[in-house]
Parts: sequence; structure tokens; C-alpha cells
Amino acid sequence: METLSATRWLQTLLSALALSILTTTASLAAPFENTLAQRLQACTACHGDQGRAGPDGYYPRLAGKPAGYLYNQLVNFREGRRHYGLMTGLLDTMDDSYLQEIAQYFSSLELPHPKPVPSTASAALLSRGQQLATRGDAAKGLPACTQCHGSLLTGVLPQTPGLLGLPRDYLNAQLGGWKAGQRHASAPDCMADIARKLSDADANAVTHWLSSQVVPFPAKPASSPPPRPSAQASVECGKPINTGQTTTSSVPPSAQLTQGAYLARIGNCAACHTARGGAPFAGGKRLDTDFGQLVSSNLTPHPSRGIGAWSPDDFWQAMHDGKSRDGRLLYPAFPYTHYTQVSRADSDAILVYLRTLAPSGQVNTAHDLRWPYNTQWALSVWRWLYFKPAPAVPTSPAPGDLARGSYLVNGLGHCSACHAPRNRLGAIDEAHAAGGGEVAGSRWLAPSLQSKTPGSLGHWSQEDLVQYLTQGQSKHGNAHGPMAEVVLGGTQYLEPADAQAMARYLLPESPARSATRYGDIGIPPVTMPATAPTALGPRLYEKHCASCHGQNGQGVAGAYPPLAGSATVNALRPNNLIQITVLGGFAPATAGNPRPFGMPPFQLQLNNQELAALVSFVRVSWGNTAAPVSEFDINKLRPAAAP
Ligand code: HEC
Ligand code: HEC
Ligand code: HEC
Ligand code: HEC
Ligand code: HEC
Repeated sequence: METLSATRWLQTLLSALALSILTTTASLAAPFENTLAQRLQACTACHGDQGRAGPDGYYPRLAGKPAGYLYNQLVNFREGRRHYGLMTGLLDTMDDSYLQEIAQYFSSLELPHPKPVPSTASAALLSRGQQLATRGDAAKGLPACTQCHGSLLTGVLPQTPGLLGLPRDYLNAQLGGWKAGQRHASAPDCMADIARKLSDADANAVTHWLSSQVVPFPAKPASSPPPRPSAQASVECGKPINTGQTTTSSVPPSAQLTQGAYLARIGNCAACHTARGGAPFAGGKRLDTDFGQLVSSNLTPHPSRGIGAWSPDDFWQAMHDGKSRDGRLLYPAFPYTHYTQVSRADSDAILVYLRTLAPSGQVNTAHDLRWPYNTQWALSVWRWLYFKPAPAVPTSPAPGDLARGSYLVNGLGHCSACHAPRNRLGAIDEAHAAGGGEVAGSRWLAPSLQSKTPGSLGHWSQEDLVQYLTQGQSKHGNAHGPMAEVVLGGTQYLEPADAQAMARYLLPESPARSATRYGDIGIPPVTMPATAPTALGPRLYEKHCASCHGQNGQGVAGAYPPLAGSATVNALRPNNLIQITVLGGFAPATAGNPRPFGMPPFQLQLNNQELAALVSFVRVSWGNTAAPVSEFDINKLRPAAAP
């Protein structure tokens, strides 16, 4: 009784606070528009309104730069040739066509540049800068910057950016990045070459001169570079990036190959076997576990470094028994504990597909595990305790067969690899799967998929689940973080009959399944803290969140998910709410949702105390019934600061 009245008191207080804020600031919120600009607010939160650059010059301008250049940079971040973790995290759930569209969009914006800051440099220094920019220094092998960046230095289509209107700090940081090997472009990387030839004094001179120039308006990139004077050094630059390279063959694919490619997607093999920026399936991706770091292996058909010499029997031994070709026991980070259920025909088809990949000579890297986990005898004990190969089956259940759903969920889909808890030795504990599991190497929580447990899938319809798996969105929320990557690389490609089979298996028809909302089912009553909450939570919500999620957490249909009644918000453990608030994110780009809306990361805006107040406020407001979160919880669950 006492808790109840305390709850009610708190809710009245909070809604009174929210209401008073509403009346003072409602007029400030911009109206919602279903545009690309609205979708990309997650970007302009850092890059400034319309991508005009952040106020202090640290966040570069995007508006008006050549689309080819912007696209190349987005791919460079995603593939690890440039580094900014908070931004890269947002790009990880996008596909190339959305990146193209984003690049086109920012490129098409024509905004005047701010007036340049008058330079404090001496006339001699500025004159040296001008010389380098417009004439180069043949003795040092330096072509003029105008040679590639255009005679007006406003860039050249399709992929060379302008150099005017950029703050000096930004210019220096980029030249320094190339010199130090932190920024890369596709090879040959001409700017790396030029930056290394520029002495510190010359770099200083040229950035002083560039940043003091008035930018013409409109600052259109030229359509071709100026003719090269024969006296000037010539340097080669890389071609525009063309991603999405798959094997091209004039022979039409066999049914077995098509099936193999499909199954490899459903198993999401590429997610673990492709390193950031590395060749597809060439391995080398590092996976964090409680026992140390594992490195995935090269699955391309290279004869000695990949699996080019493997027979279908060798491959089956890995998939079904968890043993490498030479008999070495494999670590269950490779989810053969699930793949053991894959049929022989499907295993063979996957190998047929892998053999069509471009062979990569990448050498497998040794794992970095603590003793005794790095020994084969420890692994054999583990396997004796926790792994029994499934009975071998020649073929998989046909589409339409009732057993097909279980085959996909428990076999190739390896859903419980994340969605069930693990014991102290890393073995999956299906018997206690009701609480869901923590995703290895992260603080994300994969909720229980058992439809009978409180607060779980129980209130979803089969159609909702099919939509979630194939589009990454549903009326119960979107796929975030690791699940967004599962959808992006895997489940979005599910054939309709297979998606339905999985939904039928996970959500069997039963009248007992209730239609109650997440927060209403079986969640233990919330014990409110004795002290009154501070006004900090509502204030931060108003400042950072209300413009998208609404004054009352109601969201905007089709764009911003509601926080009132949200499963993520009301979850017993606040892990995912904290990950999402700190990291932001886009739902995965899929055929059904090709241009998702984005949420900016708040890593840099909110300290632990503020995050605790904000998250607690969201968890107890608008009918939400979850327990507040302490600073201590935040300290434990906050993802590490991005590099
Ligand atoms: C948390 C802040 C932040 C967010 C959010 C962010 N960026 Fe960035 N972005 C940066 C920083 C910082 C750099 C410069 C990094 C460097 O110096 O290399 C950058 C660089 C870029 C560049 C390269 C610019 C150039 O001229 O070389 C592009 C393009 C870009 N961002 C696009 C985006 C897009 C598109 C989004 C949204 C999907 C986005 N950014 C979200 C901080 C952010
Ligand atoms: C041989 C051609 C070439 C020459 C000469 C050249 N650049 Fe570049 N520069 C490029 C290309 C291409 C890019 C885009 C690289 C990428 O895609 O990351 C670039 C990018 C840059 C950038 C990054 C801009 C941004 O928005 O992040 C800076 C800064 C830069 N160049 C400075 C210079 C300076 C200063 C000079 C003269 C000393 C110069 N460049 C001469 C080809 C050239
Ligand atoms: C969750 C991450 C993960 C996924 C998903 C995954 N693998 Fe792996 N795989 C690994 C790791 C890590 C290893 C290395 C294990 C070891 O060396 O003990 C590995 C090893 C292998 C090996 C043994 C290679 C060798 O040289 O011994 C094969 C074969 C393999 N994986 C195939 C696949 C296929 C096919 C798929 C998709 C159906 C897949 N993997 C999905 C992580 C993964
Ligand atoms: C790499 C780990 C991982 C794998 C593998 C994985 N999931 Fe998830 N899943 C997550 C995480 C983390 C969440 C919670 C984040 C979110 O809300 O998107 C989640 C959320 C979900 C949800 C939303 C549940 C809810 O109650 O809100 C469904 C449904 C789901 N996953 C289904 C599946 C299915 C089906 C598979 C197998 C094909 C699967 N997942 C495989 C990590 C994973
Ligand atoms: C620019 C608009 C915008 C702002 C500002 C914003 N969000 Fe979001 N938020 C989104 C979008 C878009 C999604 C869906 C993202 C996805 O699918 O990954 C989302 C998703 C979420 C989710 C997951 C909800 C669910 O049920 O799946 C939570 C929780 C959340 N936001 C909390 C916050 C908090 C707390 C703040 C303030 C600190 C905030 N958001 C600010 C746009 C925004």
C-alpha cells in the first residue's frame, strides 16, 4: 500500500513538472516533417544545422561538399580508414544505398560560408602559404593544392573536396592525421604522400593562408581539374570507392549455390568472419569474451590460408562436430553448438557458396585467451560437459513444414547464442533462458524469446515478429545495437515462408497469450526511493529528448518510437535503455525501411549523475512502471567512451 501511494505521489509530481515545462517551451519545438533532414538530425546534432559545421570547428561542414567525396568518407569511417567511434556506430547499421543518398543530400545544400577569421600570421608566412596552395614547390615534389582541389580551391567533382571555409584547426588535424597514419583514403592515397612531404612550417603556412580566404558563393566544385603545368610534380589519387563487391561470374548460379548464399546470410557468418574494412569472409575479426579475445578464421577458398583445400566432409566436421580440418577442437564462440543442427545438405551448400568467394591470403591470427582456456584439454572438458553433436540429418525440413521454424531458430539462426544466459564457463543455459542473455563482449541485453515469460515476446503477433525480423522495425520497437546487425546482415533476407516459420515456432498460437503491454505483465512492483526525485531528470528530458520523443513520451508514429510503454524503457534491467541513450543509433536500413530515422549519441552530453536522473525519469513517467536507476548502475552499464 505504502509503495503504491508513494508511486502515485511521485507520478503526480513528475507530471506537474513536465506540464510546467510544456507550457514554457512547447513553442520552441520545430514541427515534425517527414524529410531526409528530419531523419538525419542524428548527424546534424554534431555537424550543425543542415551540416553547416559545428560551432567550434571540430565537427566538419558537410553542406555543399562533392557527393562522391562525402560518400567515400562515410565508407572510410565504416571500414576503419578514418576513426570516430561515436559516428561510426551510427553508420554500422546503414547500407550503401542509404549512404549514397545521405551524401547526395548534404552535397545538394547550398549555404553561405561564415566570414573567415582574419589571420594573425606574418605577411611572409601567408605568402609562402599562397605559393604552396597555388603554385606548389617543385623542388620538394609538391604539386599546387589547386592542381587537384580546383583553381578556386572549391573542390573538383566527383570526389575532391574544397579547401576554403574550413577552420584552421580542422585543416591541421587532417594533415596531421595523414602524416601520423590515422586518416587514410583508398589507395593510392595521394594526400598521405603530400602530407608527408609538407614540413611542419609549410603545413602551418598553407593552413594559415587557406583558412583566411573568403569563400566565393556559391562555392560550387569544378567539373574537372585545371590543366597540369608540365613543371609541376604529378601525384596519383585513388579512384572513387565502389563497395558491395561480390564475385562476378557469367555462369548462372546453381540452385545449390543460391541456397548456400542464402543460408550463409541466415547464419550471419559474415558478421563474425569479416573484419572492419577487411576482405569479406577473410576472418581476423576480434571477438571479446570473458575468457579473452578470439579471432575469427579465414573462410575464403585460399588453398593454404583459407579453407580452399577443405572437402565437404572437413567442412561438415567443423559445422557439426566443432573440429577443424586437422582435428583441432574449435572454440564455441563459433556457434557450432547451434550449427550442429544444420543438415548435411545445407552444410554442403554453404561450402559451395564459400568456394565462389575471392580467395584472400590473410593469415589466421592466434587467439588471445587466458590460461587454462587457451588449452585443448580445457576445451575437451568443456565439450564433454556442454556439447553433444546433434543427430546428423541429411536434409532440412522443407518450407511449410512445422519443424522448419525450430530448425532455423535453433540451428543456423543461433538466436539463443545471445538470447539465453551463459554460465560461468560460457555455456548456454537454455533452462533459465527466461531472463534473456547478455551479448558477449558488450553490455547489451538480449531479452528472452520464450513467449510465456513475463514482459517478453508474449504480446507480439506473428506478423509483428515477421516485420521485426525482415524490416528491423515493429510497433513494439526497432532492432538496436547487436540485433540491428543481425537484421542488417541476416534476417532481412529471410524468405517470407521461413520468416513465418520462425514466428510460428517462437509464438505458437495459444489463447493464453495475453495482449497486455510489456509493463503490465508480472513485473515485480517498483520500490521507489524514499527521497524525492530531483528536477534534473525532467529538465534534461525536455532539453535533449522531447523534441523527438514528445512531451509525454508519445513519440511520432513511423519515426520516433514512444517511450511511454516501451519494452526497452520498462525492461527490468536498464541495460539497453542506457546503451541506446549513450550511443544513439539508426534502425537497420532494409528493403521495408530503407531510410530509417536516427537518434544522436548522448555520450558527450550526459555525465553519470545526469544519465541516472534522466533514465530514472523516463522509467517512471507516462505510465511507465520500471524501477529508477542509480548512478552506481550507470557506472556499471555505461558503454566505454568511443575513441
Ligand atoms: C558525435 C558527433 C558526430 C555525429 C553524431 C556524426 N558525426 Fe560525422 N564527424 C564527426 C567528427 C568529429 C568528424 C571528423 C573526424 C575527423 O577529424 O576525422 C566527422 C566527420 C564526418 C565526415 C567527413 C567530413 C569531411 O569533410 O571529411 C562526414 C561525411 C560525416 N562526418 C558525416 C556524418 C553523418 C552522415 C552522420 C550521421 C549519420 C554523422 N556524421 C554523425 C562527428 C560526428
Ligand atoms: C594529387 C591531388 C591532390 C593534391 C595535389 C592535393 N590534394 Fe588534398 N586531397 C586530394 C583528395 C583526392 C582528397 C580527398 C581524400 C579522401 O577521399 O579522403 C584530398 C583531401 C584533402 C583534405 C581533407 C579535406 C576535408 O574536408 O577533410 C585536406 C585538408 C587537403 N586535401 C589539403 C591539401 C593541401 C593543403 C594541399 C596542397 C599542399 C593538397 N591537399 C593537395 C587530392 C589532392
Ligand atoms: C559469433 C561469431 C561467429 C559466427 C556467427 C560464425 N563464426 Fe565461424 N568461427 C568463429 C570463430 C571465433 C572461429 C575460430 C574458432 C577457433 O579457432 O577455435 C570460427 C571458426 C570457423 C570455422 C573453422 C575454421 C578453421 O580454420 O578451423 C569454420 C569452418 C567456420 N567458422 C564457419 C562458419 C560458418 C559457415 C558460419 C555461418 C553459418 C560461421 N562460421 C559463423 C566465429 C563465428
Ligand atoms: C548477436 C546477438 C543476437 C543474436 C544472434 C540475435 N539477437 Fe535478437 N536481440 C539481441 C539484442 C541485444 C536485442 C535487444 C536490443 C533491441 O531491443 O533491439 C535483441 C532483440 C530481439 C527481439 C526483440 C525482443 C523484445 O522483447 O523486444 C527479437 C524479437 C529478437 N531479438 C529475435 C531474434 C531472433 C529470432 C534471433 C535469431 C534469428 C535473434 N534475435 C538473434 C541480440 C541478438
Ligand atoms: C533527433 C531525434 C531524437 C532525439 C533528440 C532522441 N531520440 Fe531517442 N530515438 C530516436 C529514434 C529515431 C529512435 C529509433 C532508433 C533506432 O531504431 O535505433 C530512438 C529510439 C530511442 C529508444 C528506444 C525505444 C524503443 O522502444 O525501441 C530510447 C529508449 C530512446 N530513443 C531514448 C531517448 C532519450 C532518453 C533521449 C534524450 C536523451 C532521446 N532518445 C533523444 C530519435 C531521437
